[in-house]
Amino acid sequence: MNLEILSSPIQIGNKTAANRIVIQPMECNDGDSGGNPTELTFKRYRNLAEGGAGIIIVESLTLSYESRARKNQLKISEETARGFERLVKEMREVNPKPLILFQINHSGRISGAAFSKVVSLYPTGDPDVHILTDKEIEEVGESFVKASLISKQVGADGIDFKHCHGYLCGEMIRPANTRPGPYGGSFENRTRFFRETSEKIRKAVGKGNFLVGVRYSFYEGIPGGFGTSGPEEVEEDLFEPLRFARMIEEMGMDYINVSAGIPAVTPEIVRPTKNYPEGVYRHFGWTKVVKKLVGLPVIGSGYSYLRDGKNDLKEPDPTKKSFLCWAEKNLRNGYVDLAGIGRQSLADPHFAKKILSGNMDQIHFCVACGGCSVLLRSQKEVGCTVYNEYYKEVLRQARKEA
Ligand SMILES: Cc1cc2nc3c(=O)[nH]c(=O)nc-3n(C[C@H](O)[C@H](O)[C@H](O)COP(=O)(O)O)c2cc1C
Ligand code: SF4
Repeated sequence: MNLEILSSPIQIGNKTAANRIVIQPMECNDGDSGGNPTELTFKRYRNLAEGGAGIIIVESLTLSYESRARKNQLKISEETARGFERLVKEMREVNPKPLILFQINHSGRISGAAFSKVVSLYPTGDPDVHILTDKEIEEVGESFVKASLISKQVGADGIDFKHCHGYLCGEMIRPANTRPGPYGGSFENRTRFFRETSEKIRKAVGKGNFLVGVRYSFYEGIPGGFGTSGPEEVEEDLFEPLRFARMIEEMGMDYINVSAGIPAVTPEIVRPTKNYPEGVYRHFGWTKVVKKLVGLPVIGSGYSYLRDGKNDLKEPDPTKKSFLCWAEKNLRNGYVDLAGIGRQSLADPHFAKKILSGNMDQIHFCVACGGCSVLLRSQKEVGCTVYNEYYKEVLRQARKEA
């Protein structure tokens, strides 16, 4: 099998990723009670660094402990900066090559009500959810700037400005955000926060040796979700996602990370499984159209389900439907620049190293069983419940408690 493109370097901004495999952000809910990384976190990321991917995007780091989706979510702030400095240092000691990006996020309406304050931009139907004022939105913008600066100070190569999966910034850009005032209604207004904040982030971190990219959901799969044409529309319409791509480029960002769906509502769109294997083709299509429009490097998602070809796609020859086949094909055709893996990185943190050295038979392929997602939903520490004994036990406990 040809590994020529998958193993080739690519320039992103002023930096170089050593190969085309990206570890997508995977939150594992194993911070301490102050949002600091724990020994378990350090171990996970050392393992990933050793695994040899070109880019590692560190999981969703909350800007606000007051509003967060996971009870033990990692928090990026001045108080936790030392922990993240150690995290980056340990990863680089293991392997200096991978670019390390931090995904920064505000959970918005997906914050956990049991342990934090749920906030939103427009009414959710729940009177207990606080609707942020324009001033509070501006303060959230400042905290994104602060988090970007801290990420730079602790040694990360850049940030992934999270606009996907229904969290606050995803909620902001969708047509259903009809709030009055400067941050809702027209596309111009819904993207104002992005423009204002990314300008401030750029000013704070400079242009050159610190990457700023954006991950967003092309189609959320809900009425008025991003990727539809109006507040009550449901069918896919890529006009706005593509307009947004152009805006990201115009704002001087360094890459676009394409995702889709909202895990809490439309999980099958986010992560293809045997219930909807063709979902992988939709991910390929989204990166293909965005690549036609912009010159920025584009990262794709949803590749874990492909495995070594043992999947339910309608193709008899496994070698024609495997990760390797599709990643190479999409890269060669110019439909994507980097192939991102989420679940596969939990199943085998050394996936990149093994596949790039031709050691396919040593890979623990993700079987898309959903065990890791069950752990996340249950607010447990997250890992692979198929190949890792520790997380198998965490899942057993979670099931007992349920
Ligand atoms: C347990 C778990 C945690 C995740 N955490 C994040 C996250 O922190 N940030 C994010 O953007 N996506 C997150 N995702 C989505 C993945 O990054 C990825 O987009 C998704 O799993 C589909 O890719 P895959 O088919 O390679 O797994 C998570 C997914 C799972 C299953
Ligand atoms: S628990 Fe299942 S879905 Fe999650 S990484 Fe492991 S094999 Fe994949």
